Amino acid sequence: MEGHTKDMRYLTFALGKGRLADQTLALLEKIGITCEEMKDKGSRKLIFVNEALKLRFFLAKGSDVPTYVEYGAADIGVVGSDTILEENRRVYEVLDLGFGRCRMCVCGPASAKELLQHHEMIRVASKYPKIAKEYFYNQKHQTVDIIKLNGSVELGPIVGLSDVIVDIVETGSTLKENGLEVLEEICPLSARMIVNQVSMKMEAERIKKILQALKDNV
Ligand code: PRP
Repeated sequence: MEGHTKDMRYLTFALGKGRLADQTLALLEKIGITCEEMKDKGSRKLIFVNEALKLRFFLAKGSDVPTYVEYGAADIGVVGSDTILEENRRVYEVLDLGFGRCRMCVCGPASAKELLQHHEMIRVASKYPKIAKEYFYNQKHQTVDIIKLNGSVELGPIVGLSDVIVDIVETGSTLKENGLEVLEEICPLSARMIVNQVSMKMEAERIKKILQALKDNV
């Protein structure tokens, strides 16, 4: 990848902050892409450069990663497929990175199970209103009232805001500790790599090299 780096433009990666970012950096390191600066946990810096490889990395809120990639502010992004489905941006989804595996589910108290059987008008709380709507309206043909929340969605049925929730289940311990369970499974999820549609053509060679190296390692 090195050589005529002088003439190269930076390839920019947008990484979702948090759990996925650490695993993404570990994977990139395996294929020889390192960014030492980014490992400093105490730092509040948001953007990091690897001069030798002409790469830039920034950390963004996960739900903003597809936006940066669609507009070309980042060439490449790494984000959960939950966010890709919810944001529905014009980007190419190029690779399942194999980590961050979890499930999008309808959850609630066991007593809510029957509310899902008879097309009842129920309340559904979720951080993912589009995924919830697509599932209930287009797959189950059940008209529901969707309430958007921004986190700690499990509170919904506990405090009486909603009958059920649509949320990510990984280990299931959050549900268990709050007396809730998986009622229906919507889809499996994992970390994905996305690419800007113009970058995919203009920087095809560099991007394909990275993709191939990643494919050999996932
Ligand atoms: C996610 C998700 C669940 C939990 C699932 O929340 O929304 O609450 O993790 O994980 P588990 O099945 O292993 O318990 P997150 O930690 O991202 O925080 P949030 O509730 O603020 O969205």
